[in-house]
Amino acid sequence: MPPIEVFKDIYWVGAVDWNIRDFHGYSVDKGSSYNAFLAIDDKVTLFDTVKRGFKNDLIGNIRQIIDPAEIDYLIVNHVEMDHSGLIAEIADLVQPEKIICSEMGKKNLLAHFHKEEWPYEAVRTGDTISLGKRSVQFIETRMLHWPDSMFSYIPEDRLLISSDAFGQHLASSERFDDEVDLSMLLGHAAKYYANIILPYSALVQKLLAQVREIGLKIDIIAPDHGLIWRKNPQKILEHYDIWSQQKSKVKALVIYDTMWHSTEMMAKAIVEGLVEQGASAQLFDLSSNHRSDIITEVLDAGAIIIGSSTLNNGMLPHMADLLHYMRGLRPAKKIGAAFGSYGWSGEAVKLITTAMEEMKFEILDPGIKVQYVPQDDDLKRCVDLGRKVARSLKKQG
Ligand code: FEO
Repeated sequence: MPPIEVFKDIYWVGAVDWNIRDFHGYSVDKGSSYNAFLAIDDKVTLFDTVKRGFKNDLIGNIRQIIDPAEIDYLIVNHVEMDHSGLIAEIADLVQPEKIICSEMGKKNLLAHFHKEEWPYEAVRTGDTISLGKRSVQFIETRMLHWPDSMFSYIPEDRLLISSDAFGQHLASSERFDDEVDLSMLLGHAAKYYANIILPYSALVQKLLAQVREIGLKIDIIAPDHGLIWRKNPQKILEHYDIWSQQKSKVKALVIYDTMWHSTEMMAKAIVEGLVEQGASAQLFDLSSNHRSDIITEVLDAGAIIIGSSTLNNGMLPHMADLLHYMRGLRPAKKIGAAFGSYGWSGEAVKLITTAMEEMKFEILDPGIKVQYVPQDDDLKRCVDLGRKVARSLKKQG
């Protein structure tokens, strides 16, 4: 993808990764991009680099605008390798006057690249550097997504270069939000939030409060993945506010893994009870749904009802995978219940309930266990569980 002028004398010079499909466990079925930005000013400045393997894209794009040797400052908003993988090669090529990062960024760059001799300049929230006609203010954003993360804000252009925050994993020939369908884009932003940012929701709330407090005027948000919010920066800020409050709808997910369809029969009966009582319900069979798509729906679901058959005194492996992934993402304010069929020992329901307790779900029911194949009475208990969860959701809503 060729460079694109985001603002006068500020260019997108990143790379589009059309073919990536797995981002450490997150299914990125539409690829991604690694955005880097070049500001042409008295001090020519490169904001972030790209993932190793995309050197020709980055260097080729920079060369279309300027000789890379003319870059003076290299700003590292985040050290994770999808943005800093090329820093060592860029630093060799450019010999920058300064490598600007947070204090933690300096530590992490040293831990990754072991280059004591680089011209680091550590900055903190509130620090500003002049590039000439424009300046860059820094805002540390610890844990969004790593301890080293920070934003770069250019007040003259009201441009926020936001690193991982507000991104989407989406490969596209378009670079701006107004060039694509907004609901599609927000869907990708929600999936990104649910699978990456969710555990740091409390920090997002603090950051948004800080942005309001300092009265940051934002016309454009340029994240390091996906499209640039040129028309709707307020829209993505509003969504981050909602998502980080973990507000939920009268919506329940029924997620199951089944051996011989008995647990599946129970899952469908639970959905029946939910729908009968007016809750929105979504049914997920783990053998045909990816964990990261399910987590996207967890974002605004008020209840998570989880079932597994028992296998070898435990739950089925896909369920163990999902619960492990979900625990790490720390969803909050959920109602939970477990169910499942078994042959002779039946530990799965207890294990799932314990996992939900560890995630601080409100457990509404001790769980429904059925030996082998459910009979009408068993399915009625499942319908009743669905009804009970729906009533509880409505009471909360
Ligand atoms: Fe896109 Fe945390 O790296």
